[in-house]
Amino acid sequence: MILARRGPASASALARRFGTPLFVYDAREARLRLRALDAAFRARRPLICYALKANPCRAFAASLARAGAGADVVSGGELARALRAGFPPAKIVFSGVGKTAEELRAGLRAGLLCFNVESGEEMATLAREAGRLRRRAPMAVRLNPDVDARTHPHISTGRADNKFGVEIPEALALYRRAAKDGRLRVLGAQCHIGSQITELAAFREAARALARAVAEVAAMGVRLEHADMGGGLGVVYKDETPIEPEKFARVVEDALRAWPGLRLLLEPGRWLAADAGVLLTRVLYNKATSRRRFVVVDAAMTDLPRPALYGAWHPVAPVAPRRGPRRRVDVVGPVCESGDFLARDRLLPPLKSGDLLAVGKAGAYAFSMSSQYNSRPRAAEIVLDGGKVMLARRRETLADLVRAER
Ligand code: LLP
Repeated sequence: MILARRGPASASALARRFGTPLFVYDAREARLRLRALDAAFRARRPLICYALKANPCRAFAASLARAGAGADVVSGGELARALRAGFPPAKIVFSGVGKTAEELRAGLRAGLLCFNVESGEEMATLAREAGRLRRRAPMAVRLNPDVDARTHPHISTGRADNKFGVEIPEALALYRRAAKDGRLRVLGAQCHIGSQITELAAFREAARALARAVAEVAAMGVRLEHADMGGGLGVVYKDETPIEPEKFARVVEDALRAWPGLRLLLEPGRWLAADAGVLLTRVLYNKATSRRRFVVVDAAMTDLPRPALYGAWHPVAPVAPRRGPRRRVDVVGPVCESGDFLARDRLLPPLKSGDLLAVGKAGAYAFSMSSQYNSRPRAAEIVLDGGKVMLARRRETLADLVRAER
């Protein structure tokens, strides 16, 4: 995402008007990416269910909803926010290993497209709740195909070591049981093997596992209506080679060739949102020890926890670079932990107190993972759309920090 150099939507004007740290999202960029993904899978006319966890900001998500996207939610909270953002219930899928009975009920009442069931016990709870509400619960089994997504271990989800999904033999037993249960409606098969995936082979293996499951379920006499490939498509943070959507589409198509009528669902989060956001932060101080130079800024791991959690690399650059020799620095926040850094060992031009820095690729898994640790109020969020500048979420106040306390 590139901010305007001048005018009311420029980084410096936004920071002056709304303060820092500040998240800025470009709704149009996210819609362009939605359209690109949709075009790559044109032949299947896929339903693209935006993974709300990447960035649930209402104004941002609502723009994707208006552009025709569905949503993938993983909690009652996300379900409520997806509905509030205008996603039609018939385009919402509900994933997650620990949906409570209450959350399942909320989904049943809303009339969601599909529940992605992740265990036998969850399926029994779903059937019970559906029975009580006198509804049939539309469901898919989330498969655990034991595929290595070759990504960071914390965001790898498709191995038998992970808590996610159901291994194939057990999944087939669940389908057999579900097909005989009048409270359930067997609708599809789903898998999601991880996030920030840049190796096509991982998707190929997952798509083949999905296709095999569709065939085995068909052999039981149950015709599935959809296959859901989950999310996971990686983006460029530094020097990764991302998978082109067309290539992703081709491996999925190859695997599903025998099932031309099968509807395809996708659940991308990062791929739609990461590039559509920046985090603006101001330099507070420069300091050095005998070993390292630090630039202390007003954003922290509380705003962007990805570097602290996954050792993630985000681009960081001054909005108006000064002349002078570049120096190797750590860009750190005010939080009282040495893990609180936004960037390490970066060659940056001279920086002075008050200078504005832009942290890139902050549209996904940044604000949505933010916290109030060290009693830091959360940042404000701005959504740009065409020429419009919208304050989508005001900065939290000190009163917000204690609002729920009694
Ligand atoms: N569907 C399901 C069931 C998921 O669990 C996820 C992400 C997605 C879709 C969307 O995946 P995406 O397209 O965004 O890769 N906080 C981590 C990422 C965690 C992803 C969790 N699940 C990070 O900042 O890298």
